[in-house]
Amino acid sequence: MYNLLKGKRGIIFGALDENSIAWKTAERVHEEGGTFVLTNAPIAMRMGTINQLAEKTGSQIIPADATSVADLENLVEKAMEILGGKIDFVLHSIGMSVNVRKGNHYTNQNYDFTHKGWDVSAVSFHKVMQVLYQKDAMSEWGSIVALTYMAAQRVFPDYNDMADNKAYLESIARSFGYFFGRDKKVRVNTISQSPTPTTAGQGVKGFDGFIAYADKMSPLGNATAMDCANYTVAMFSDLTKRVTLQNLYNDGGFSNMGVSQAVMETFIEE
Ligand SMILES: NC(=O)c1ccc[n+]([C@@H]2O[C@H](COP(=O)([O-])OP(=O)(O)OC[C@H]3O[C@@H](n4cnc5c(N)ncnc54)[C@H](O)[C@@H]3O)[C@@H](O)[C@H]2O)c1
Repeated sequence: MYNLLKGKRGIIFGALDENSIAWKTAERVHEEGGTFVLTNAPIAMRMGTINQLAEKTGSQIIPADATSVADLENLVEKAMEILGGKIDFVLHSIGMSVNVRKGNHYTNQNYDFTHKGWDVSAVSFHKVMQVLYQKDAMSEWGSIVALTYMAAQRVFPDYNDMADNKAYLESIARSFGYFFGRDKKVRVNTISQSPTPTTAGQGVKGFDGFIAYADKMSPLGNATAMDCANYTVAMFSDLTKRVTLQNLYNDGGFSNMGVSQAVMETFIEE
């Protein structure tokens, strides 16, 4: 370990169980000397095992529904109290589509569900940043990261309305990142991660095929949750101070591939 985050304080959203990308990130941040508050939706607290993570990393948990500005205000105030100062890093690791959950096809959405999923998966990122910005809660040279997926740029039919939510999320990172950079010297980026076997990931129809295809297409294979945790640590560290407004691919090379030999072989008839 490198002590990359020694003395830094943060907030980590979205650790549900040990498969969660946020869970792995919390473990790695802890190993690198960072301290943080864990948060998740009140309902997820009951379903998940976040208490174990809190114990393991010596962290406190503050429940917050990321769509509620009042919850987020409470979270940010309490986090600064508990951690003893302004925030250096924030991980937004939140995603949920009600249409996906209910099995509604992309061409047959219930727009109340669409709206809810958009609020949870995309607008919540704006809300988190607006609260941090208005409370002047971020330290100079702080770093904010949200997790995304390449369905924001390319068509993955079974990703459903999450594709649109991710496009919106990435746009918020750029738009808010401008003001956060100019006014507070804080960087804002999204990390576009390979398909990863987590609760959210497995909600995508045909996920096994999806993950195997991505793996065969990528020269380095799929990035794991641990790879994502390591990349996020780097983005929270002082080694990436002027990287901002970027969508950063952590995908083993998938995003620049046309086709791979391994995938071709499944189509060649001899
Ligand atoms: N798993 C993948 O294949 C994959 C790939 C690329 C990007 N991502 C993204 O990574 C992030 C983390 O997902 P994951 O794969 O670790 O799955 P996960 O299911 O472990 O995490 C999703 C989290 O969102 C939380 N959440 C849902 N509604 C919330 C609300 N209203 N308020 C606060 N929290 C709420 C859940 O409780 C859960 O902890 C998501 O943004 C997801 O879209 C995942």
